[in-house]
Amino acid sequence: MATWRLDPDVVHLNHGSFGACPVEVLDLQHELRTEMEANPVAFMLRRYQPALEENRAAIASFVGADPAGLVFVPNATYGVNSALRSVEGRLAPGDELVITSHTYNACRNAVADTAMRTGARMVVADVPFPIADADQVVSAVADVLTDRTALLVVDHVTSPTGLRLPIEAILAAVDPAVIVIVDGAHAPGMIEVDLSTLGAAFYTANCHKWVCAPKGAAILWVAEPFRSTAVAASISHGYNDGWPGSGSRFHAQFDWTGTDDPTARLCVGLAIEVLGSHRPDGWPGVRSSNRELALAGRRIVLDAVGTPTPAPDAMIGSIASVPIPPEREPSESIFDPLTTALHAEWSIEVPVFAWPESPRRLLRISAQQYNTIDDYHELATALAAELGRT
Ligand SMILES: Cc1ncc(COP(=O)(O)O)c(C=O)c1O
Repeated sequence: MATWRLDPDVVHLNHGSFGACPVEVLDLQHELRTEMEANPVAFMLRRYQPALEENRAAIASFVGADPAGLVFVPNATYGVNSALRSVEGRLAPGDELVITSHTYNACRNAVADTAMRTGARMVVADVPFPIADADQVVSAVADVLTDRTALLVVDHVTSPTGLRLPIEAILAAVDPAVIVIVDGAHAPGMIEVDLSTLGAAFYTANCHKWVCAPKGAAILWVAEPFRSTAVAASISHGYNDGWPGSGSRFHAQFDWTGTDDPTARLCVGLAIEVLGSHRPDGWPGVRSSNRELALAGRRIVLDAVGTPTPAPDAMIGSIASVPIPPEREPSESIFDPLTTALHAEWSIEVPVFAWPESPRRLLRISAQQYNTIDDYHELATALAAELGRT
């Protein structure tokens, strides 16, 4: 069972951004920190690596990966940056690096930087939203592929639009010579992930979102042909094999990237257990009940704002985005002023993004085990008032 220490006076409808960590997992993190500060040297040099291996095994099994190909990173942004840094030597001027119009802004920036440093060109596949079916994503990507396409960065679940993308079908449409980096920031814990059969070169994901580990725990999985040349975005001892205890040069690159607080990654195994025991039917029950609540919540919000269903149910996991009638005045911030109004006037945490650009905007709800249907009714009441629909 997971218990939460969330503020009861707030309606928490944005699990998607930073997750939330159950008390049981925070307690372990507290114990580990106490132990670490009682003898920092013993903890870092003797206790850390065996504990890391246990947690690596747990998350590897959870995402269907071979532990030999899996490393911990602090977050998905670091994972995408490391994957890009690892393949820059394979890119040539004039190569095309494909992303989609739904790519998370931080990762889009990382690809733009790689393009600038290698002389490659970033190409954006324009995925529609509202969207009628998942095939439209495959066509949008296929439409921009050329014989200069060298790399594709694609999300498993998109951030602003909350869509589960058909990455298996996308991979099938791409020439096997193209290096595919999957940004699965939201995927583990929200949808089933099986890396054993995926066929991507790199897959990164956060553990703090839907696995509910503490913040600072994420993974990067690397396919076998890319492991010997993979480097962490922060080069450290592992670069010349100088991290004793790591099982391989590849692991050593990431197992130690400089002194930090490693306790978040040492809690991932427990987080998988705690959330997995939250429902009698285990993780499948967590995923499906979150999805049902997200779909029911989306229906309530759509009715409140009078917007047609923007995406098929099959593309929805535990987050869902709803177009909100545009503001009259464009806003300069990525977050629409409605986000602040819902927080300040109604104590509701829910993001409203300018998308694709202000004054057009999307509101994204999340559904996690601590949410109930009443949370979405409260949001609907607030929206009706804020949008002048009462
Ligand atoms: C699709 C996607 N990629 C990457 C990230 C970045 O995650 P982080 O800030 O943990 O690096 C997010 C965060 O929400 C995301 O939704």
